[in-house]
Amino acid sequence: MEHKEIVAEIKDHFYWLHRHPELSGEEFGTTEYLKNVLASHSVLVYPLPLSTGLVAHIGQGNPVIAFRCDIDALPMQEESGLDYSSEYPGRMHACGHDFHAAALLGIALALKNDNSLPGTVKLIFQPAEETLGGARQILETGILDDVQAIFGLHCCAAYPNGTIISRPGFMNGAVDEFRIDFLGRGAHACRPHIAADPVIMIGNFIQAAQTIVSRNVNPFHSLLVGISHIEAGTAKNIIPEKGFVEGTIRSLYPEDRKLAKERLGSLACSIAESFGGGAVVHITDGSPATNNTPEWVALAEQVARKLQMPFVTAPDSLSGEDFAFYQQNIPGAFIQIGTGIGPMMHNPAFRADPDALELAVQFGVQLVQEALEKLKYVESC
Ligand code: NI
Repeated sequence: MEHKEIVAEIKDHFYWLHRHPELSGEEFGTTEYLKNVLASHSVLVYPLPLSTGLVAHIGQGNPVIAFRCDIDALPMQEESGLDYSSEYPGRMHACGHDFHAAALLGIALALKNDNSLPGTVKLIFQPAEETLGGARQILETGILDDVQAIFGLHCCAAYPNGTIISRPGFMNGAVDEFRIDFLGRGAHACRPHIAADPVIMIGNFIQAAQTIVSRNVNPFHSLLVGISHIEAGTAKNIIPEKGFVEGTIRSLYPEDRKLAKERLGSLACSIAESFGGGAVVHITDGSPATNNTPEWVALAEQVARKLQMPFVTAPDSLSGEDFAFYQQNIPGAFIQIGTGIGPMMHNPAFRADPDALELAVQFGVQLVQEALEKLKYVESC
């Protein structure tokens, strides 16, 4: 297939995917569509026990690398005004995962033409990134056990088309969420002496929780403990029986992550107890921090420069990205590509410029070829 034909075809796939967004874990129509496109081009898909998402492959033998895109959408109403807007009320591809899927299809079609690929590339169309569970599902199949390097591509609305953005080391934060229930004893507001007031417990807990970042962690490390949701009580003259707080922990270093969870729990329990109540602490284990291997970021930068695409060092961010699960076992790099400056991801007016698809494919194809060549060279030494 000619390069031009590939670009024209994947633009159509992008429009279809954008019109048919599916939520995390429910990407049934998307998966079927992608499988059909790949089958029509004789790109092989591994038979894996995945209800949604898939892994295709091109080339053969060692070395083996992987390229990951995600395919799920968000539960929000689209307000982009695009003529290919979502056909499903309350669902939207507002994080550009439709762009990623179309770009990876393009990379697959372009590499099909390349009989000289020096190894194997596994193309991951990952489900459920937004709920941070899809990467684990792919890893559990064992299909990545022989992968020596992995790359992930994400669009970015903060840069013009084709800008490549990455950095060595931490690029996104670990994401954990918590809910803490404070259990007291209710009473009429005029009889506080017979109550155990969860509002007082929560007030003190909020203050104390700020000291985790300010007093417990190395001040040169980034850590965030945010409480964003509080509920307690029903009326002005009733001391409630219980209340709760919810929030998020964002961290880079595993030891800080562990410490923040432990301190939140012990502060909640000791404060609740000191006011005559108790606390029930729930903390979910989200994704770890993305941690890019310097040599693979260097290769991405080299490829960008070769293609005359500007390379920008990624700014500090504690946003979450479940690509980090792959990086716990496999070296690699998470890379963003500019898709036109506009409303950011997760905004109802977000749009990824379809014209950036061609650049994403060029970059991805070159990166796959050069990464395999680099590994081949190391193996032969
Ligand atoms: Ni995303």
